[in-house]
Amino acid sequence: MSLAVFLSDLDALACEATAAFASAGDPAALEAARVEFLGAKSGRLKAVQKGLGKVDQADKPAAGKRFNEVKQAIESVHQQAVARLAAAVGPKKSSRAFDPTTPGVHPRLGRLHPITQTIDELKEIMGRLGFTAVEGPEVEDPWHNFDALNIPPEHPARDPLENFYLEMESAGTPAVERGMKERPLTTLLLRSQTSTVQIRTMEKMQPPVRIISCGRVYRPDTADATHYPMFHQIEGLLIDRGVTMADLKSTLRLFARSAFDPDVHIRFRPSFFPFTEPSVEVDMSWQGGWMEMGGAGMVDPNVLKAVGYDPEEYSGFAFGLGIERICARRHQIADIRELYKNDVRFLRQF
Ligand code: PHE
Repeated sequence: MSLAVFLSDLDALACEATAAFASAGDPAALEAARVEFLGAKSGRLKAVQKGLGKVDQADKPAAGKRFNEVKQAIESVHQQAVARLAAAVGPKKSSRAFDPTTPGVHPRLGRLHPITQTIDELKEIMGRLGFTAVEGPEVEDPWHNFDALNIPPEHPARDPLENFYLEMESAGTPAVERGMKERPLTTLLLRSQTSTVQIRTMEKMQPPVRIISCGRVYRPDTADATHYPMFHQIEGLLIDRGVTMADLKSTLRLFARSAFDPDVHIRFRPSFFPFTEPSVEVDMSWQGGWMEMGGAGMVDPNVLKAVGYDPEEYSGFAFGLGIERICARRHQIADIRELYKNDVRFLRQF
């Protein structure tokens, strides 16, 4: 036999063996392939080895050397296939019996953010007092954020330093295409208070009105332990015949007792808001002192007029409270900035 024929038999066998080991999908198939190619008695490698004796004497050293290389290569491909199948099965199962008393692995559940939890609870409390939860947009126009709330054009509450104004091109064709030099801008802003929803609700319905609205408001305040440039308010509005300040006070007292503990103290301080008259600031007792919770008052007749209600017939009260501070008091959180750090170690506590 010539050296060339022997070597080509050897190479063909190497190719076939490699393919067979690589495609073996389970241990039985791999074992069958091993017997076929590497079997000690009648394996095909053994058969090729027999041809080695018939190679010309002068070529024997070269043929023998090549035979050993190919044999090693095939064996190593077989070992790889063994390892591949073992990895697919996974680590060898322990022979120890299953112990049903071993504590299980606790799956970690996600949960609602403490602010969301607080809002749900406040809606529930006010719902029991007969108030329906409504919503309003966070991007507002000056009519709902100011004018209708009796805040005149020159009022400092409109100052750009106190608000996040957005300038928007009026809807329709872009000004440039209409050949305008000056773009007509409709001023919009991120609402600075949820009182906007009072107006939006009264524009849509006739008294009696008994609503709350919870949502985000925006003010360019510096963040500190009790302030954040975005925070949440709960707005309440009640309009009916013969509503008095006593109704406002008792409603807020009931609200506080349900939201906190029954012996929480509520304090009302005279204040001013353009949209209520008289107006009060509402404080809650906390850690031996007082914490401001928000503002309230009897709805100003000008506001009722702005939405087409007759102030001679109807009166009402409104309040707007900070939800972060309510949440902080409920959970003894010393700094409301914690609520927005998204630190899961903090959030997991609620
Ligand atoms: N909108 C006021 C604020 O954000 C709170 C308020 C609401 C006061 C309703 C009176 C009545 O400060």
